[in-house]
Amino acid sequence: MPTIDQCRGCPYRAPAIGPRGNPASRIVLVGEAPGATEVADGRPFIGRAGEKLWEALAEARLSETDVFITNSVACRPLNPIRPKVRTPSPEAIRACHGRLARDIELHPRAVIVALGVTAVQALTGRRGFPVTKKARRTELPSDWGTVVPTLHPAFVLRRPEDYPILVADLKHARRLAEETGSAGVAKRVPSVPEFRLRFPISKVRFWAKRYSYTDDSEVEAIGESAGKRGWYTRDEFLSVSLWKTDRSKSRCAKNSASTVEEVTEVALRASDERLRIGALTVLQGVEMPTASVLLHLALQTYPIIDYRALWSLGIDPPPAYYSFEFWWKYTRACRALADEAGVSMRTLDRALWQYSKEHQSIA
Ligand code: URA
Repeated sequence: MPTIDQCRGCPYRAPAIGPRGNPASRIVLVGEAPGATEVADGRPFIGRAGEKLWEALAEARLSETDVFITNSVACRPLNPIRPKVRTPSPEAIRACHGRLARDIELHPRAVIVALGVTAVQALTGRRGFPVTKKARRTELPSDWGTVVPTLHPAFVLRRPEDYPILVADLKHARRLAEETGSAGVAKRVPSVPEFRLRFPISKVRFWAKRYSYTDDSEVEAIGESAGKRGWYTRDEFLSVSLWKTDRSKSRCAKNSASTVEEVTEVALRASDERLRIGALTVLQGVEMPTASVLLHLALQTYPIIDYRALWSLGIDPPPAYYSFEFWWKYTRACRALADEAGVSMRTLDRALWQYSKEHQSIA
């Protein structure tokens, strides 16, 4: 049973269910989230969607000993405002990512099957992948090896004519697992993308001059004092977090002054990069994007993680979850660009933000 008492930022607190199947199997199936039947039983895919899945697995010549099954989110999505909405929210997918990673990484997998669009998002960071159009022996890269996206069995219950697609994709996964034998993870392709500036490097100053987000002088001054002192005070931390987003305002306010000071001191003084960024995410309400702003303003050599900046570097959509590897590669890419353009990280950040503001159409 996953421990849910350590979850941060997840809207659900229903009982969590664990995985099922053979922990030594080469095929991992990832569903969406449990329903009421699964919660009552404690195992995934027990209800009607489960029956469809087992039928399709049998047709693909796979049994429970050939697969290991888990979900993108371990708790049942219960939305008090819209009770009929059962699709897990992006916050829940992010909050459950560590648990999903553990389920998968403990595994000698050869291939992972994503059952539906939520699983594709949880595994690859791609939102809204058109599974209904593209599922048919497609293969996507992920941090954990090849992902075969396919239809969710609940979708097949509503559209029985698409059942053969699910079966064909499961057969494809079986073949991939057979091809890799016991040789290890199939086609392990890291999902950390390349960053490519969408505009000429010579235009960085031009776009930075057009920057129109807010007057940043207050947070810049805060960052400078925090950098000199070696830590953020609680008030400074709250102002900087609010500048980034007001969505986590109440959670950020739960951190005491001493926690903020100690944690930010560890981060600003760290020589290990993983510790530097990771320490900040210990603070309530702070995930990678806000942590990146705290470093950006105090230390000046770190970029801000923001969907606009990422878009200007060719990342679309942004990942559902920011790994250390992603952040570190992004940091090094931005440092190289700032050097090449002969500008500070702050100027580069303004240019990236503004270029997206004037060119990115937001759905
Ligand atoms: N649907 C899922 O995605 N997972 C389950 O465990 C049950 C139904």
